[in-house]
Amino acid sequence: MVNIKAIRVSNAALKDSKYGSDLVGVFVGATSGIGMGTLKQFAKLTKSPKAYIAVRSIQAATPLLRELEASNPDGTFILHQTEISLMKNVDTMCDEIKAKEEKVDIVFVSPGYLSFDDRNDSIEGIDIPHALRYYTRFRFIHDLLPLLKKSSNPRVISILAGGQESPIDLTDLEMRKDFSMMKAAKNGTTQTTLAFEELAKQNPTISFIHKYPGFVNTGVVARLMDTTAGVLWVPAQLFKYTILPLINVFLSMSVEEAGERGLFLATSAMFPSTRGGGIGVPLPTGLSVAKDSGDGNGVYLLGATDDVQPITPALRALREARGPAIVWESTLGIWERALGRS
Ligand SMILES: NC(=O)c1ccc[n+]([C@@H]2O[C@H](COP(=O)([O-])OP(=O)(O)OC[C@H]3O[C@@H](n4cnc5c(N)ncnc54)[C@H](OP(=O)(O)O)[C@@H]3O)[C@@H](O)[C@H]2O)c1
Repeated sequence: MVNIKAIRVSNAALKDSKYGSDLVGVFVGATSGIGMGTLKQFAKLTKSPKAYIAVRSIQAATPLLRELEASNPDGTFILHQTEISLMKNVDTMCDEIKAKEEKVDIVFVSPGYLSFDDRNDSIEGIDIPHALRYYTRFRFIHDLLPLLKKSSNPRVISILAGGQESPIDLTDLEMRKDFSMMKAAKNGTTQTTLAFEELAKQNPTISFIHKYPGFVNTGVVARLMDTTAGVLWVPAQLFKYTILPLINVFLSMSVEEAGERGLFLATSAMFPSTRGGGIGVPLPTGLSVAKDSGDGNGVYLLGATDDVQPITPALRALREARGPAIVWESTLGIWERALGRS
């Protein structure tokens, strides 16, 4: 467990560190929850930050924008209104960033929602919740790789379920044969880690972090309960109004702490890329460099308190089966199809 006090020491050192000035961050899924918590810390605790923020509604995000601007008058915060479940829209937003910026330091992706509903394909033919947890996130990462490579300390962070990789069918990554919400969620988790391992090989200067946030009080579970139907609706509502509030009070992490942890992952020397250590905000006393998921592969699988997760047997087996390369090749192909190029 990484103690929150040590994280606060590290984050407080940012403004005086050479790694805490003029950072450019791209935030996707930061209009609420863990992404928003991280964005607020980024705005408040770094010097002259610039953030590009994907939003569904400028109007709904304007109070957040005002709060960010008030927390750091030297910051630049750019809202980009778009429907990110479509890959073509991701490309448009990234093209705009590429036209304006010479480098990007942080890509922080956490969009999504949980739903018991059946498959819900977008007009590009990708299940929307699955796009948000995997295809959209990686399209941002893919598009921004050239700018990440220009940063002195580039970080990619996806908030999902690092450490919970499970067996997946490498011949049916889109789950056409058999779809369920649980299967899709598991696929997204495992695909994320495998894709990170492939990308880290190709981009050794970038640190890739896949984090399971534990239970953060963002309302995500209450919204999931509202997607139940039929006989499950009554127990789901009972859970929502009786047990869930207790979990929120006694067992969950606050959005603020999740955000402090998010900023730490994005800046600390604890998570070096394959290129090596010594880059990022120096470690406070008591902390040491984290162990990555391979031998210096620059991919980190973290739990709620940023503790390194053990490698699951499924992940080992998928590596033996060329899982990282297969997932990445499939992802590139699915994007081409979605964008009408194949
Ligand atoms: N919170 C937890 O306890 C927990 C635990 C395990 C895993 N996770 C995972 O961690 C990630 C972040 O969780 P969170 O609790 O921070 O989530 P959250 O508070 O629900 O925030 C989700 C973000 O995704 C955006 N979003 C939702 N549906 C969208 C759509 N159809 N199109 C575009 N954007 C959409 C939201 O935008 P709007 O503001 O416009 O709605 C918001 O910015 C999720 O993948 C979640 O499943 C969370």
